[in-house]
Order: sequence, then C-alpha cells, then structure tokens
Amino acid sequence: MDREEIKVLLASEGPAMKSLLQRAQDVKFKYLDNYVHLRGLIEYGNVCEKNCLYCGLRSGNGKVERYCLSDEEVLECARLAHELGYGSVALQSGERSDPEFIDKIEYLVREIKKIDGGSLGITLSLGEQSEETYRRWFQAGAHRYLLRIESSSEELYYKIHPKNAKHSFQHRLDCLESLKSIGYQTGTGVMVGLPFQTLDHLADDLLFFQKMDVAMVGIGPYIPHPDTPLYRFKDLVPSAKERMDMTLKMIAVLRIMMPEINMVAATANQTVDPQGREKAIAAGANVIMPNLTPGEYRESYFIYPDKACVKDMPDQCKSCLDIRLAAIGHKILYNAWGDSVAFTKKAR
Ligand code: 5AD
Ligand code: SF4
Ligand code: FES
Repeated sequence: MDREEIKVLLASEGPAMKSLLQRAQDVKFKYLDNYVHLRGLIEYGNVCEKNCLYCGLRSGNGKVERYCLSDEEVLECARLAHELGYGSVALQSGERSDPEFIDKIEYLVREIKKIDGGSLGITLSLGEQSEETYRRWFQAGAHRYLLRIESSSEELYYKIHPKNAKHSFQHRLDCLESLKSIGYQTGTGVMVGLPFQTLDHLADDLLFFQKMDVAMVGIGPYIPHPDTPLYRFKDLVPSAKERMDMTLKMIAVLRIMMPEINMVAATANQTVDPQGREKAIAAGANVIMPNLTPGEYRESYFIYPDKACVKDMPDQCKSCLDIRLAAIGHKILYNAWGDSVAFTKKAR
C-alpha cells in the first residue's frame, strides 16, 4: 500500500470503516488464528531521566511519588505470571542509564530465567540504552524489546519532546537498529491523537513500521495528562471516540500490511473506551499486557490519567480477560511465549 491508499483507509467512516476492521480480522485469523498472547506487565519503577512533554513520569513532574520495586517484588510478580500461565512477562520502567540500574536489570533477567527452567519469555521496555547494555540484557535472557518511536515524523517528534541531546530522534532510530542487529524481537509504536498530528503523519508511521520491518507494534491513543506541558494543547486533541476509531483503523491497516507481526491492544485503549482493548483485538491486535505490579505502586505509575486495572488484582484480570475475549471469539494461549510469527519465520 502507498501513502495515498493508506490515507483513504484511515479516513474511512461508517460502513467503509466497518469493512476495513472486518478485513483486518479476517487477515489475522488466516495467519495467526484467534489466539491472544499475554505478557504479565511489571512496572519496575517510575524514576525517569527524560522529560517527554506528554508523560506523567517525566522528571520535571514533581508531583509523582517515585518508587522502585525490590528484587523480591519483581520475582514474586514473575512467579505469579508463571503460575497464572501467562507464559511471558514484560518489564517496564522509566528510563535510567546509571550502572546500578543496568546491573540490576541484568540480574533480574537472569533470575526470572531461572523460574521453572527458563519457561517465561521476557520483554523489556526500558527506553534508550547503549548497544552494550542492550547486548548484556539480551545475553542474560531477554529476547524482546519495545521502544516506541512515538511519532516517526521528526518534526512532530520534536513537538512532543524537548529539543535537546537527551531526546534525540536520531538516537531513538539508532537504538531500534541496535536492538534488531543484536537479535531482539524488536517492537515500536506510536500514540494516536497527538496535538499537531495529521493523517499524513499517521500514514507515514505505518510505512515506517513496514520499512523498519519490526516484529511487534504498539499503537494506542494519546491521553492528555494535566501535569505535563503538552496539556496546554488539549483543545487540539480529537475526542475520545475519534482517537479510539483512529487507533482501530491504524491497527487494522497495519494488520493488512504486516499480517504476521505481534500487535498489542494497549491498555490506554481502555481509558478512552471501556471496550477499547477488545475492540483493538477484534481489529487485528493479538497481545494484551495484564498488569502484575503490586497494588500499592500502581497508582504511582501514572503515565496518563484513568489507567485501567489500577485497582484490580492479577487473578481478577485473568478471569476478566478470559470472559471478555471469549465474548469476541478469541482465546488466550496460555503457557506459551507467543513470539512474533513474522520474526520466527525470518530467523529460520
Ligand atoms: N498518553 C498515552 N500514552 C502515553 N505514553 C506516555 N504518555 C502517554 C500519554 N499521555 C506511552 C508512550 C510511552 C509509553 C511508556 O507510554 O507511548 O512509550
Ligand atoms: Fe520517561 Fe518514557 Fe515517560 Fe518519556 S515516555 S518521560 S522516557 S517514562
Ligand atoms: Fe484487569 Fe479486566 S483486565 S480487571
């Protein structure tokens, strides 16, 4: 598909949009069946060196109570993921590059790998790091890495990030290349409904994913956070319904373009629509990340307001997801890593 064709699909409404989402679901069923993969999400800490203009965890936000889980808390979450049959965990945190942090993550990855003889898959989402750090974590046993580009347009990137060396668009691209060359299943993604974002930007985002030939993508709606600088442009943000629909169309078009990648139904979907995650799955996504972070810390991982499942306990999420997914004709594949088929085929 070229940019113009993509734009036509992204602009579709009513019956045309409905048939796009249906077509994407058909493609997914054909290539990946009706399975959904789970990643137990562990929000390791909310200390962040960066200052992204949209995110509640930015270092400039003095209102956040900062925390970092203990080793035992992380391993407890991972054991719980294993017991619940989730098959994989995702370790996520604000960005830190101090040696202590790098060593700690390496240690934790090794310890998680010891659970039941390496039965858990591990995804990391820990921001921009040096190639050496990425390699150390890979050698310790992590095999997937998520680093959203947030917007593939350099111009828009610098409208939502401060323009300084710490927030370099080029460095972000270099990191994605490093991750791929090291051998990670590499994932990226964008937010939908940002102020100043146009249909051209969104179409280019999809072409970017294809050009980068990534194994995983996360697309989710932008949610304005009152304690961030970008909030003053909230009047430029489309309505919740518009952001939801555009997210669904982005997922659907990408599923048609890249039938075998893993695509996550972002939790942010559920903030703009109570059925948001299920809608994302029905439109072509195939991964969900239920939260395993211990309850007392969840409210501090305040990336954006009204995050889903902040008050729910892990076992509740499990039965909740079983029911919600069964209702839309999908089933969870338990006790499996759920790797990206696109990646696995290429590796062969
Ligand atoms: N709304 C939606 N998603 C956000 N993220 C950060 N801030 C927001 C927000 N206000 C997403 C970014 C980032 C991930 C940690 O959370 O895409 O990659
Ligand atoms: Fe930090 Fe990530 Fe939030 Fe940026 S988006 S401020 S890097 S946690
Ligand atoms: Fe957490 Fe439904 S997924 S309660």
